[in-house]
Amino acid sequence: MSEPYIGKEELENVSEALRTGWISSNGHFIKDFESAFSKYIGTKHGVAVYNGTVAIHLALVALGVKKGDEVILPSLTSIACANAIAYTGAKPVFADSDREYWCVSPEDIKKRISKRTKAIMVVHIYGHPCDMDPIMEIADEKGIPVVEDCAEAHGGEYKGRKVGSFGAINCFSFYGNKIITTGEGGMCLTDDDELAERMMILKNQGTKPEFRNKYYYDMVGFNYRMTNVQAAIGLAQMDKLDYLIKQKRRIAAEYNSRFKANNDVTTAPEMPWAKNVYWYYSILVRKGLRDRTMQTLEKQGIESRPFFYPIHMLPHFKTGVKLKNAELLGFAGINLPSGPQLTSHDIGRVVDAVSSIRD
Ligand SMILES: Cc1ncc(COP(=O)(O)O)c(C=O)c1O
Repeated sequence: MSEPYIGKEELENVSEALRTGWISSNGHFIKDFESAFSKYIGTKHGVAVYNGTVAIHLALVALGVKKGDEVILPSLTSIACANAIAYTGAKPVFADSDREYWCVSPEDIKKRISKRTKAIMVVHIYGHPCDMDPIMEIADEKGIPVVEDCAEAHGGEYKGRKVGSFGAINCFSFYGNKIITTGEGGMCLTDDDELAERMMILKNQGTKPEFRNKYYYDMVGFNYRMTNVQAAIGLAQMDKLDYLIKQKRRIAAEYNSRFKANNDVTTAPEMPWAKNVYWYYSILVRKGLRDRTMQTLEKQGIESRPFFYPIHMLPHFKTGVKLKNAELLGFAGINLPSGPQLTSHDIGRVVDAVSSIRD
């Protein structure tokens, strides 16, 4: 679907980490990667962690989310988002998606705010940014912090500003299929000194700087530390990030133009205010055609994925709420191969296979 793009720079950095013995969570690559990535996105602090799921959990705990609270999130997203909320004991409150650009709908967020809402989590889905102005307006008016989940949108932009620089704490994943990777990995970004310090303490078993090496603690913390080996890969990947985004956009432009002749396919959106980084190039197919399309792709040795299953319909998160767009998109969407090294020929094969399906 999207393979990692690794070169000799990653090998050299990892060799240095191994050679010098700095293979756990000390070593210069961690600080260097935190600085480089937060600078790239445009925030003051970066807190590197073990993966994207724990990044969200850490963000929520740092914001004080706990049992009895509610957190609003889209239903059409990775299960990691709902799981991270569940870890805190808070209740996930699912919101619908926008029909046109597939991210969470600001109007629907507004409807779901209650006295218990402690945070609003927005997710830039498949590389397309959320409509941040109305979201920040609603959140600021109510004094509720926003957490952006940018796992799928490294370098995506809203009105020329990078996603991951709007919310109180913003979370990234660097899993192997993400735009840049550290194998497993994640990061929380923030401009807030206090939140950054709290996350640094919480991710390291609750170790406050003044209690370091004293085995004294006054809170429950976690081991969510990123290793120097992961960060060594991440730092080398930073030099490739703009190139990789360019490749994703090249691939999307080619898919878009080749799908033009096919009225059964809705191509990936890009709103006038958005820079989509097309982490996964995605399409919608007409009702009833999805399974057949995916089976045809599989028969031709082409990998694809269905859209996320709407989380509000999963047995353990079911609340009886009906979310029209999330349900429609969730069962009509297909993610197509999106690796940075896809050639024109590869894209042609995928489009021909999809276009061979008719009612
Ligand atoms: C939107 C979103 N959030 C969070 C995650 C979780 O990240 P990780 O797999 O690094 O835990 C993922 C994907 O993997 C994701 O796609």
